[in-house]
Amino acid sequence: MTEINDINQYTASTRLLYADEGFSDEWSSSPPIHQSVSGIAKDAEEFAKISSAPLEERFYARHGNPTSSRLAKVITNLEGGECGIAFAAGQGATTTALMTFLKAGDHVIAQKNHYMGTSKMVTQILPKYGVEATVVDQRSVQNFEEAVRPNTKLILLETPVNPLMYITDIKGVCDIARSKNILTFCDNTFATPINQRPIEQGVDIVMHSTTKYIGGHHDLLGGSLTASRELCEQIWDMSMNIGAIPAPFNSWLALRGIRTLGLRVKQQNASAQAISEFLENHTAVSQVFYPGLETHPQHQLAKSQMSGFGGVLTFVLKGGYDAGRKFIERVKLAHHCSIIETGNNSFRFAQSKNRKIKQA
Ligand SMILES: Cc1ncc(COP(=O)(O)O)c(C=O)c1O
Repeated sequence: MTEINDINQYTASTRLLYADEGFSDEWSSSPPIHQSVSGIAKDAEEFAKISSAPLEERFYARHGNPTSSRLAKVITNLEGGECGIAFAAGQGATTTALMTFLKAGDHVIAQKNHYMGTSKMVTQILPKYGVEATVVDQRSVQNFEEAVRPNTKLILLETPVNPLMYITDIKGVCDIARSKNILTFCDNTFATPINQRPIEQGVDIVMHSTTKYIGGHHDLLGGSLTASRELCEQIWDMSMNIGAIPAPFNSWLALRGIRTLGLRVKQQNASAQAISEFLENHTAVSQVFYPGLETHPQHQLAKSQMSGFGGVLTFVLKGGYDAGRKFIERVKLAHHCSIIETGNNSFRFAQSKNRKIKQA
């Protein structure tokens, strides 16, 4: 489009469309929220380019968005990756990665414990599309090695993981995967890139539910994937077809939240450590699960791959379910709600088959 010289020659209906043409937001120190569904090309040549180039955000909002790309850039930097994409939810990020790299006839290895949505994808949804899964106890690298088949394409990792804070040896599993040309995917939501950088330990794709620590304020749903440029181009190609694209406002909230991630995680590490030590010595408590405790069976492994142990811990009360219920009813400040790993204190009260677990 050529420049508009005299906007006043047009009708009000036209002026309300073009009066702010050329208005720049370059000056703002806080990132703007780009709501625009499409970008403007200078000419036909540029339009042809943006309509076909991978990871190009100006063509259409399902291809990308500047606010979301900005968030992905910060996460990519923290994770030490090459490239990143933001998603509408952590689950959208996971699903898109699985759909990108798996096809009928492939085999995937997952952990016995994952975020429940990941486990369901692997054990109930992927098999419907001809992808077989083996679930292994993630505390032993050997279990992963033994599960490998000639058609294994992907290994899913998540560490630490709910409910018992098991740790997976990231480097140990990645060494095996690399030697057999298998991709690795790691959910780093619980650890955050402040405490753990899986790419440095050999992981190919790092996932976050930005709904949690990265957003940090209980007010957005989001996800991200970080990987090499080559893998990101493939993910991007699938992402525009899956359509789990974040709303720009949610990306903006996550971008605002992430600015304080370092400070929040540092405090959460310290608080969780102090609370677990307190609980460990409490007469009403029978077990505490926190990787920062020396009594955690995998503390040394956690120490070797994490620089802090996170803000989530689990403990078991001696009096079982009734004691747990009583405790929850008497807690004054923490919320009893579904979301963990964010800014506020929260409790989740869980009951498993033969024991009752409290999680703080
Ligand atoms: C560790 C972990 N991974 C993934 C997810 C899924 O993320 P979202 O709820 O943003 O889709 C969650 C959500 O609770 C989670 O806790």
